[in-house]
Amino acid sequence: MNIQKLSAKQRELLRWCHRKGGYDNIICDGAVRSGKTVIMAISFVHWAMRYFENQNFAFCSKTVKTCERNVIMPLLSCGDIAEFFDLTYKRSDGVLIIKNGNRKNTFYLFGGKDESSFALIQGITLAGVMFDETTLLPKNFVNQAIARTLSVKGAKLWFNCNPEGPQHWFYNEWLKDSDGANIKNCLHLHFTMEDNPILSAAQIEKAKRLYTGVFYKRYILGLWVAAEGLIYPDIDPVIVKDAPLPKNCMRLMVGMDFGGNRSLTTLVACAITENYESLTALSDYAVSGKKGEIDAARICEKTEEFIKSIYSKYGRYPDEIRCDSAEQYLITTLKNHLIKKGFNIAVKDSDKKEILQRIRCTCSLISNRKLIINSDCRLLINGLKSAVWDQKAASKGKDVRLDDFTSDIDILDAFEYSFSPFIARFTPRLEKNFKDGGGGVTARDFKGYWF
Ligand SMILES: Nc1ncnc2c1ncn2[C@@H]1O[C@H](COP(=O)(O)OP(=O)(O)OP(=O)(O)O)[C@@H](O)[C@H]1O
Ligand SMILES: [Mg+2]
Repeated sequence: MNIQKLSAKQRELLRWCHRKGGYDNIICDGAVRSGKTVIMAISFVHWAMRYFENQNFAFCSKTVKTCERNVIMPLLSCGDIAEFFDLTYKRSDGVLIIKNGNRKNTFYLFGGKDESSFALIQGITLAGVMFDETTLLPKNFVNQAIARTLSVKGAKLWFNCNPEGPQHWFYNEWLKDSDGANIKNCLHLHFTMEDNPILSAAQIEKAKRLYTGVFYKRYILGLWVAAEGLIYPDIDPVIVKDAPLPKNCMRLMVGMDFGGNRSLTTLVACAITENYESLTALSDYAVSGKKGEIDAARICEKTEEFIKSIYSKYGRYPDEIRCDSAEQYLITTLKNHLIKKGFNIAVKDSDKKEILQRIRCTCSLISNRKLIINSDCRLLINGLKSAVWDQKAASKGKDVRLDDFTSDIDILDAFEYSFSPFIARFTPRLEKNFKDGGGGVTARDFKGYWF
């Protein structure tokens, strides 16, 4: 990687630490892919090597693995760093040694979520720390790392992150202060995608289409907003009257959620096209009945009716039923029932993806117009339209879909089970990073590989 040009914000990120009597610390927050991390790492190395010798520094990310990927690899491949310094990366020790003539400094990698890192960081003295994706790090880990710098004169803390909810501890303890009294003497630079000079207008437009609602505000606009209000505010354009079975339907899936005391057993049939071009919700159904009437036999009978209705409307039986895996006895009963009745339909456990992962996928499918919902799917449409973020959870800084029986979201589980095995296929760019650890809606999950 070579840096050909820099945006004004990136230039400031390279310069701030060399001004006499300037700031002690820096925070770069904002949109995904806006050019915060790589230039921060370069600036951090230049600053460390210019003002210190035989000192220890730390690069902190969620895990050592993400640190290596987000920070170390770009540094190792950066011509502008190689021009000035000799870098030796000892992967097995998680250490990067940087030399400039006789001057040498050691940069340790720490993962905030790696238990071993916590113990290691407690015993070290650091002249500077770069926290990558700070909002994903546990507060006590960050505080421990900060404590390690207190005895070193001229030590600086470097934070970068994407926004989360305004209740996040980092927002409250660091960002608010930097925009207010600034007791911590911290420079705050807010990045948008336009601050990354290598992104074209077309790439930025493409990125914008990946998000809706709260995710759009956080990861495109870079705002610290709570997950509140409607989760799927823009679904009207994807509702289509008499949506047909797509010609290139590759798999016809049924998602099934078993009811409990206060919820119904629900089914949603969805068609998945070749190359994962689209997901069409064709039909939905809820097994109704009075208390005491719904037993395994009724569920089997109603499921059979549902799959027959799919055949009569669309000329094809479902290939697979994905069921709520919490109910193994029911799954076995249904499987045996369908075999006995001569159906060749696989009945399997649902692929239990995190709810937020499923929500992100649905949002991305909606904003890319890859989701089509037959207007007959009244339950599903109602469920999507009434799904809201949990206000109480948001006040504690958590992103949670409200599930208190006031919104009809049982159907959403069934819908999501129908496509969750294929989430990574539908949204490969979104999911690529997700595998590297952690849950929750985070910037890391959304980081796109659009270029
Ligand atoms: N001035 C530049 N010259 C060349 N490449 C750049 C420049 N600025 C950023 N990039 C490239 O743009 C991509 C995104 O940059 P970076 O990872 O620093 O963004 P980010 O804001 O940290 O993103 P995220 O919020 O998703 O972590 C990287 O591949 C990086 O190498
Ligand atoms: Mg980054």
